[in-house]
Amino acid sequence: MLKPHLLIPAAGVGSRMKIGYPKQYMPFVDDRNLLETTVWRLSEMTLFASIAVVVSTDDAYIDHCDLPQSVRVLRCGGKTRAQSVYNGLKALELKGDEWVLVHDAARPCVSKQAICRLIERLDLGDVDGAILASPVVDTLKIVNEAGLIEQTVNRELYRSAQTPQGFHVQALIHALADRLQTATDEASAMEAVGAKIAVIDSPVSNIKVTHPDDALLAKFFLQSI
Ligand code: C5P
Repeated sequence: MLKPHLLIPAAGVGSRMKIGYPKQYMPFVDDRNLLETTVWRLSEMTLFASIAVVVSTDDAYIDHCDLPQSVRVLRCGGKTRAQSVYNGLKALELKGDEWVLVHDAARPCVSKQAICRLIERLDLGDVDGAILASPVVDTLKIVNEAGLIEQTVNRELYRSAQTPQGFHVQALIHALADRLQTATDEASAMEAVGAKIAVIDSPVSNIKVTHPDDALLAKFFLQSI
């Protein structure tokens, strides 16, 4: 099976967690913080040619983390997630046609089976990229500025985008370059340049730890993986 590189952006401030320091360093499980948990889980999957973590230039916590020795730490994070990923990709100096998966540090519960399905899809060679996503279970409403429902939309047409998201390194660098302020994930940048992107079903347990309640839920999911 193809062995992509893995880039983990971890340069956010995580203000919605309201803990006064970046959420990736919050204590998580078994004496590991959130970032350590995510990195060790992914490292133990043995699916990747290399793993690198992007942290902010003035990060005061990463040197105290226990990460696998082979993991590179890149101190080149930017103001937006897209900028952090862009800077990280450039710092890696990979060949343009190599595959890279980008995965949020804040998603510790990602399933190995789902990542394998994603890599297998890239390996088929018929798409420009692939992302994990989960079906939407709630009924979806379009709501106007006054907080009133305008319309119910067909949820079958929607997916909730997760990570990892995988693309060729050079194509992703090019796509992100013009969208450093606007792209909230890699796929949105690649969509804008007409890429054909496969969506791979992934469990809802691959949540992004964003608010305090998410941490409780993610710890629960981790016990059952
Ligand atoms: O803020 P959000 O939860 O969307 O961030 C998703 C991931 O992107 C997190 O792992 C976060 O650390 C990272 N990020 C980053 N640089 C930023 C903002 C977010 O690496 N400027």
